[in-house]
Amino acid sequence: MAVTIKSKHEIELMREAGKRLEDVHNQLAEIIRPGISTLEIDQFGEKAIRKWGCIPNFLNYNGYPASICVSVNDEVVHGIPHADHILQDGDIVSLDAGLIYEGYHSDAARTYGVGNISEEAARLIRVTKESFFEGIKFAKPENHLFDISAAIQQYVEANGYSVVRDLVGHGIGTHLHEDPEIPNFKQKRKGIKLRPGMTLAIEPMVNEGSFEVAWLDDDWTVVTEDESLAAHYENTILITEDGCEILTLSE
Ligand code: MF3
Ligand code: CO
Repeated sequence: MAVTIKSKHEIELMREAGKRLEDVHNQLAEIIRPGISTLEIDQFGEKAIRKWGCIPNFLNYNGYPASICVSVNDEVVHGIPHADHILQDGDIVSLDAGLIYEGYHSDAARTYGVGNISEEAARLIRVTKESFFEGIKFAKPENHLFDISAAIQQYVEANGYSVVRDLVGHGIGTHLHEDPEIPNFKQKRKGIKLRPGMTLAIEPMVNEGSFEVAWLDDDWTVVTEDESLAAHYENTILITEDGCEILTLSE
């Protein structure tokens, strides 16, 4: 599938999809505390998405059984919410959420500390978020896609962490996953030239230890192979005439 350029009208819909998802994430941030189950987080998130009149796009995607991916500690992404998985003081938790508004998808992830977390865990969360912003410094027309990838890896590794190789970011629009694939690490090629109207989900997944990951038996939950902590940060962005606009974050 070719990389699509969104029209003015489509961009308006993508903006609205992004705004609504940002609000859902802001609501989710408020409920994170020791004692809440990952299933309660999912149920709250699904309700918030539906209250906006939107559809949770992860639910039933390739059989994924929930609306919010809740990944705790050494879980990198795609954790499945469970009633008996209770967040503990000192955990870190990644929430990945997405929705469909008028046929257009948004996708964003945040990682939070639960109660009091170690300085090292807080640094992992901060560096992961910062690596997204380092990457999107290169998100502008005439730059190449993999400039973003290399910048993310460079920043993460300079801070002593590693970027996951087995999962990547992606184009987004009328589908959750569109071309192009967006690795968070340097490529041998330059990648496509960025153009105004492209909408992309940039999502660094960062491990405290080695970049190697494994899949749990549920075939969804991705964990670090060395059981080190992992963090995830993602926004949907729009390439504009002179840079980019973050559609799922307005701060
Ligand atoms: N942010 C994730 C991604 O882009 C969400 C997909 S999770 C799934 O791939 F459950 F929907 F698969
Ligand atoms: Co994504």
